[in-house]
Amino acid sequence: MADGNFDKQAADRAAALSTPLAELNPGLPDRFEDNSFWPVFERLRREDPVHYTAESEWGPYWSVTRFEDIVAVDTNHQAFSSDAHLGGITLADFNPDFMLPMFIAMDQPKHDVQRKTVSPSVSPQRLMELEPVIRQRAAALLDELPIGEEFDWVDRISIELTTQMLATLFDFPWEDRRKLTRWSDVATAIPGKGVVETEEEGQMELLGCLEYFTRLWNERINAPPQPDLISMLCHGESTRNMEPMEYLGNIILLIVGGNDTTRNSITGGLLALSQNPAEYDKLRADPSLAAPAWPTPRSAAS
Ligand code: HEM
Repeated sequence: MADGNFDKQAADRAAALSTPLAELNPGLPDRFEDNSFWPVFERLRREDPVHYTAESEWGPYWSVTRFEDIVAVDTNHQAFSSDAHLGGITLADFNPDFMLPMFIAMDQPKHDVQRKTVSPSVSPQRLMELEPVIRQRAAALLDELPIGEEFDWVDRISIELTTQMLATLFDFPWEDRRKLTRWSDVATAIPGKGVVETEEEGQMELLGCLEYFTRLWNERINAPPQPDLISMLCHGESTRNMEPMEYLGNIILLIVGGNDTTRNSITGGLLALSQNPAEYDKLRADPSLAAPAWPTPRSAAS
């Protein structure tokens, strides 16, 4: 019987090698959904490590794919600015009619002072304080999983645990926490692909996010400083006078930064352990992680 997975990998590799370099568009979202990006990036690193894509749905863009070059670009903001007004940090430029200034898309000095304002929220000390609650929530969610029936790991564990912790970092109303997930999805959505139909629809939802967070800002500005992100922003010297769209931009940065990364690492981590049982066995054998009984991973298919 033909191995469909093997056939697909071979077809992806052949396509990556045969496409003329000038037409290679490494940023196509489908590549990251079906894992077919690897041969594209291998080829770029080998043949064209600083690659120019002249035409794409986001306009022209450069791809830098070798480690040393990435470090050189990342550490030289005079030559390679992150400023949103100069192209920012994403393939698509910001829409000038809906600019969302945020510190990841700024250069020094403003980038540094705004980052410094919120970084205590994930300092080693703060994470140590949060560790018991992270462990307790992870255990509670895992304990609630059904046994012997199929369930959606991404929704029940990856998204839920991530959203619970984001709610804690923002001190966000608990019962509304899935709004954070929704705003993250909307902020990163390509219109017409299942999350929002149009760019305008997405902008309306993000303005709803601003309205919600403005209410929280107004509550916290009148209260003593607390270790949550909103309180840090409204009491921070470099952030307390932000315009509303800059507040929204930084909120979106923190929501997306905390959401996409964490929920995908939880999901990808589980997949990797299930595909590499020998690595999973090392966890089970590690006495520092001793738990009453680590279950045997069920393969994605069973
Ligand atoms: C598995 C978890 C995470 C991963 C893999 C991750 C990865 C990254 C990476 C690669 C960057 C870009 C760094 C750079 O270009 O200099 C970044 C930036 C950032 N991340 Fe995370 N992140 C994670 C979790 C979080 C969480 C939980 C938050 C906040 C709640 C967060 C907030 C941010 C912010 C605000 C930035 C911008 C920093 C800056 O501009 O200096 N991230 N993250």
